[in-house]
Amino acid sequence: MQEIPKKKITRKGLSKAFKLYEYIKPHRNEYFLGLFFLLGSSLSSLAFPKLMGDLVNTGTDRFVGTSVNQTAILLGVILLLQSIFSYFRVVLFVNVTEKSLAALRRATYNHLIKLPLRFFEQRRVGELNSRISADVTLLQETLTTTLAELVRQIIIIIGGTILLAVTSVKLTLFTLAILPPMMIVARFFGRFIRKFSKDVQAQVADSNTLVEETLQGIQSVKAFTNEYFEIEKYKTRTIEIANLGMKSGKYRGAFSSFIIFGLFGAISAVVWQGSQLMAEGELASGDLFSFVIYSVFVGGTIGGLATVFTNIQKFIGATEDLFQIFEEKEEAIIETTELKEPERLQGQIELKHLNFSYPSRPEETVLKDITVKIEPNKMIAVVGPSGAGKSTLASLLLMLHYPNKGELFFDDKDCLDFPLSVLRSQISLVPQDIFLFGGSIKENIAYGRPSASDEEILEAAQKANVMEFVNRFPEGLETIVGERGTQLSGGQRQRVAIARAVLKDPKILILDEATSSLDSESEKWVQDALENLMHGRTSIVIAHRLATVRNADNILVINQGKLEEQGTHAELMQKADGIYKRLSEMQFSS
Ligand SMILES: Nc1ncnc2c1ncn2[C@@H]1O[C@H](COP(=O)(O)OP(=O)(O)OP(=O)(O)O)[C@@H](O)[C@H]1O
Ligand SMILES: [Mg+2]
Repeated sequence: MQEIPKKKITRKGLSKAFKLYEYIKPHRNEYFLGLFFLLGSSLSSLAFPKLMGDLVNTGTDRFVGTSVNQTAILLGVILLLQSIFSYFRVVLFVNVTEKSLAALRRATYNHLIKLPLRFFEQRRVGELNSRISADVTLLQETLTTTLAELVRQIIIIIGGTILLAVTSVKLTLFTLAILPPMMIVARFFGRFIRKFSKDVQAQVADSNTLVEETLQGIQSVKAFTNEYFEIEKYKTRTIEIANLGMKSGKYRGAFSSFIIFGLFGAISAVVWQGSQLMAEGELASGDLFSFVIYSVFVGGTIGGLATVFTNIQKFIGATEDLFQIFEEKEEAIIETTELKEPERLQGQIELKHLNFSYPSRPEETVLKDITVKIEPNKMIAVVGPSGAGKSTLASLLLMLHYPNKGELFFDDKDCLDFPLSVLRSQISLVPQDIFLFGGSIKENIAYGRPSASDEEILEAAQKANVMEFVNRFPEGLETIVGERGTQLSGGQRQRVAIARAVLKDPKILILDEATSSLDSESEKWVQDALENLMHGRTSIVIAHRLATVRNADNILVINQGKLEEQGTHAELMQKADGIYKRLSEMQFSS
């Protein structure tokens, strides 16, 4: 999990933090009830030292009897009340927090999943995810603990100080002069020590990395007989760590001396002052007793205030961070159910002077002035050298990216005139690097259309020649594919992806062939599967092996982002020094 930075408390930051209230609002009654209990428990905790003092007073006045017992009973009642209050406070706050954060988590996920591809390409997804979860955890802590703590602290500091003053103004002034400064010094000292021990930890982690790397590269260490070199390196590290650790030990020792001398000294000084007042008859012994407890209460609370303040700063950082994601614009994704008749594609595609460059690399124009018309129900091949822009073209057709210039038409209608989800739901892409989810083969096929029946899944699997290898697995379609599908071969993964695409029954099918060449047996299975699939739809096959697209209705040759040639195999082979002819001859000779 990541460290969340502190943020200065600004008006803008606060207004972002208040957006969170939107999620708490539906449960605000519960929250306010929780606040009420918090108030109750904080106030009753203030009565505790007073009653303890009264108990001592009544005892020392040798009033042994009813009065002592009454005070004791009252004390018991207060404690009972306080425990009941704090039970309900915790339960209510946790309930509100859990419900609000569940809603916030859902809202974040719903938003995130609808963001355009561009958003994810510009970030490291793992980092994004861990940041969000760190943010949400921090919000959780703040809502359940930190805010309650802040309210409690304010009540205790103000109420406690008033009660101190009521007991003895003189003694209060004396205490305020020595105790809070001590607390503050203790706090900074403590922080310094924590920072120091963090440095030590970082050093230890470093040396662990050294060991790890050395052991991973043990072959090289041995091959170069560098064992003694490594031993020496590690020795230096251990000595450094020990020195640092010992230095930190000195600070820690000094800290505990300071606590003993400074803090307990200050308390003793208060008691000493108090005894003098007692001798002068200005203070009863029980009052002194409750006074000391109050001052420890108040002092401790002032000490803890800084931590709460830090947490609140972090909380503001976290909400700002989280709500920043909400400022990114979503794609217009809607739930696609049945398509209406005019929304159904005929399968004609037209590109007009299309230019494209990736947002992350705006200076490199990946597609240049592509103009082409693709007739319905035809098979189109796209060929060209690696890096020419073939996969990019596929992602544009699926509208994962948008052209910088030029237009894209489906059935003579601008792509932007269709609802995005309506278009995408009729196009299937079998991508170059196939991603399977960790479940079973069946689940992965069903992803093409989650509502499909078992029979339909089986039929898709048969058409895509998935059954050819699945029949050899004891668990059949229920076989688990492993994380990202790693337990299947490349050709098998490809066929599962094709089955998934068939199940969707798209009007336009785009197959981005994997570059890693399949053996001719697997290639035949994939090839077969494709032929089963192409009937009644426009299919676009991005091919690396030209032999596989020889009978395409039209072959587009893309080179460095430009559409250089197009035509059937026979037509292209006639061009004296055409790119296709050259590529074809090269592949044939090898
Ligand atoms: N997400 C991306 N962000 C930035 N640049 C990219 C991205 N994807 C591809 N490119 C760049 O766009 C150009 C075209 O890449 P593309 O993947 O379309 O090539 P390709 O024709 O499919 O190649 P191959 O035959 O190797 O699959 C390359 O220069 C590539 O580096
Ligand atoms: Mg590609």
